[in-house]
Amino acid sequence: MHPLTSSAGGPLKGTCTVPGDKSISHRALMLGALAVGETSVSGLLEGEDVMATAAALRALGARIERTGDGDWRVEGVGVGGLAEPDSVLDLGNSGTAVRLLAGICASHGFTTFMTGDRSLRRRPMGRIIEPLERMGAQFVARSVGRLPLALLGAAQPLPIEYRLPMPSAQVKSAVLLAGLNAPGETRVVEPAPSRDHTERMLRLFGARVGVEEGADGASTISVAGYPELEPCALTVPGDPSAAAFPLAAALIVPGSDLVIPGVGINPARIGLLETLREMGAAIEMGSVREQAGEPVADIAVRSGPLRAVEVPAERAPRMIDEYPVLSVVAACAEGTTRLGGLAELRVKESDRLGATAAGLRAAGVGVTERDDGLDIVGRGGPPPGGGMVATHLDHRIAMAFLVLGMASEKPMIVDDGSMIGTSYPDFVADMNGLGASIDTG
Ligand code: S3P
Repeated sequence: MHPLTSSAGGPLKGTCTVPGDKSISHRALMLGALAVGETSVSGLLEGEDVMATAAALRALGARIERTGDGDWRVEGVGVGGLAEPDSVLDLGNSGTAVRLLAGICASHGFTTFMTGDRSLRRRPMGRIIEPLERMGAQFVARSVGRLPLALLGAAQPLPIEYRLPMPSAQVKSAVLLAGLNAPGETRVVEPAPSRDHTERMLRLFGARVGVEEGADGASTISVAGYPELEPCALTVPGDPSAAAFPLAAALIVPGSDLVIPGVGINPARIGLLETLREMGAAIEMGSVREQAGEPVADIAVRSGPLRAVEVPAERAPRMIDEYPVLSVVAACAEGTTRLGGLAELRVKESDRLGATAAGLRAAGVGVTERDDGLDIVGRGGPPPGGGMVATHLDHRIAMAFLVLGMASEKPMIVDDGSMIGTSYPDFVADMNGLGASIDTG
């Protein structure tokens, strides 16, 4: 346990460069490992989650080396060319690593054992086991599909059409990645859009990916099997989910004025920006450009008064990782913010609905927790603060409540900041460099 205390410091001012996108970093290493030849990646997130993916891909036979700060070289083995790992793959805290790698291994005819930390071993894997078994893989997992698990990959995988029972980019990606080493076309029907980084990056590496929009708002994503993936040179955009923390802090700490350059603004990731603007936030996006097949912009943000909003449930897949920090902003806005459609938050790195509600209560904020949502009572100014927050091995709970401590009347303590290293290793140094006061002592 590594407790951290965040107290009101000065306003946050200057430029905050956030680390590379976590989702895109995992995918860059994975597709690099499946390409024929050498892929170079710059701006890779060097957090523990992505490092777990790198270690697993090495154990599966790819050559992966760090060549500089954020610069990596991947020597791919080609689609279908991975080899059986000789030990258990430990994916640490990372749901993306375990689910996407399970997809890849499901269509390789060898056996893989996978596990993770206490948080990951609690999370549901039935959601990938079901479609991957239809493709011919076999699994032995703990009760209700939990890790550790053994995966017997299919030597002759079948392409399937799979309708996602929940909005999940991880499940979608697991099926599409399994389909790379299957004949014909593998199809995933997605009732509502979730992040499409896998689709974009597959195209970048030369795979044939189709998207058909249905009349009911659903779309069908297809990938053609057995592509020869061509290696790429790519630069990972800044992570909008990491940028959410300095952005939220700048909104609620009076007098703040920040620029966050080079942040990914994929439409499936910017629900938070839409919501904050509805709350009255002064956020501007400039120099829109493209990087690694993704739109990127420089974001400028200033503090100012915020009002409560009702966030539509349909927006949840486009801001699924941002609810803890949005809840902290809501605690400083005027009125009651209503958040709904959040059942998926119960199965993230922690039960994020429960952990967020408990953290808000510890900070003296009025909150009502529903099965799939929260109502948060904002005072239109600083919340009382002064409490201790249980992070439950969840990096985003830790960072969200350190942000709250920057604006609250009394300091906030998070019981364990160590998981911040999974997604934003320099978070504390970056925030203190901008004017925050987070004590690691
Ligand atoms: C991710 C998808 C989301 C998100 C996670 C990263 C991805 O999970 O919460 O942090 O990289 O595909 P779900 O697919 O379970 O919603």
